[in-house]
Amino acid sequence: MEKTKQPAGWEHEAWEKIVRKVKRTSERIGDGFPHASVNGEYVLEPAHWWTAGFWPGLLWLVYRDTKDERLKAYAESCEKQLDAVIAGFDRLDHDLGFMWQLTSVARYKLLGEDESRRRALLAANLLSGRFNVKGKYIRAWNPWRAGEDNSGWAIIDCAMNLALLYWASATSGDPRYNHLAMEHADTVLSHFIRDDGSVNHIVIFDSASGEKLGVNGGQGYAPDSAWSRGTAWAIYGMALSYKHTGEIRYLDAAKKVAHFFLANLPEDRVPHWDFRLPPEVPKHRDSSAGACAACGLLLLSELVGETESELYRKEGEAMLYSLYTNYGAWDRDDEEGLILHGTSHFPEGRNIDVPLIYGDYFFAEGISRLLEHGELFW
Ligand code: GLY
Repeated sequence: MEKTKQPAGWEHEAWEKIVRKVKRTSERIGDGFPHASVNGEYVLEPAHWWTAGFWPGLLWLVYRDTKDERLKAYAESCEKQLDAVIAGFDRLDHDLGFMWQLTSVARYKLLGEDESRRRALLAANLLSGRFNVKGKYIRAWNPWRAGEDNSGWAIIDCAMNLALLYWASATSGDPRYNHLAMEHADTVLSHFIRDDGSVNHIVIFDSASGEKLGVNGGQGYAPDSAWSRGTAWAIYGMALSYKHTGEIRYLDAAKKVAHFFLANLPEDRVPHWDFRLPPEVPKHRDSSAGACAACGLLLLSELVGETESELYRKEGEAMLYSLYTNYGAWDRDDEEGLILHGTSHFPEGRNIDVPLIYGDYFFAEGISRLLEHGELFW
């Protein structure tokens, strides 16, 4: 395919539009927790929902560049509201990573606030407590309904949550968090990443013996299909595992999954919600998978040698450019989302073909990365 050449300075233009829109949207959302934009307006979720970190994370990205104190205050208030989630305990799951990385770790990295460091360490300890020693995995969720036993379920999304454990070891000097994160990362290599570079969403273990029992399609179309956002979590998550440990097997895994992802993209470089769909199933896009994968590719480009680096950088940039030009809601005052056409959960019919806050977050992170605004929050 002939790739569109991006005009010089497009990333500056994109960033200005992100800043303008986030500032405007923040007047309504403030310190709320948006997830999916329905009919142009972000629906707010309770603080315990897994997406709670993305809006404050987006506010921190914009604050870092603009020093807008109003945005900082909203992000700080979001972080404080998460204290009640820790105290409530029952709703905490493996997404402690997504939630505290983009609130407390981000604030600590930007401002050096001790209370944020303490909160993030507490979250890392709670995440460590979900580790199953027999199966060598971090348990994904708590029961969704009375009587359900999902103590043996692990999911690919957790690859992103390991960053909180790597950060905890680095900041405390205690290697235990790294040990657990690497055990889980090795389980990703042995049980989630398939020979062709696609990934399983859910792997089920016997939580008593640790034996692998099977796989579940989860948010993908089927157990043997290839959910695109899960594939993106694997690229970025494994690249982060390599960045934080220097273990080459994680880099090799991130590259293998990246090549599967790139080889299966449609013409405009933004994935469908699953890469392996039968003809009768609607092929909605998932722009959030594209945005997250683009960030993973940009990180890969920094971790590999010069020759490969250019490939990953060009591919990541091309995906962001396509999101910017073909999916951006820049001129729409009736739409709060930045990036259109995300798919949250097709099998359950939830939030299909709408802007998603994690799509917006990763798009902004990618552009901020191209502009070299500062270190990764992960
Ligand atoms: N972590 C849940 C999702 O990707 O939808």
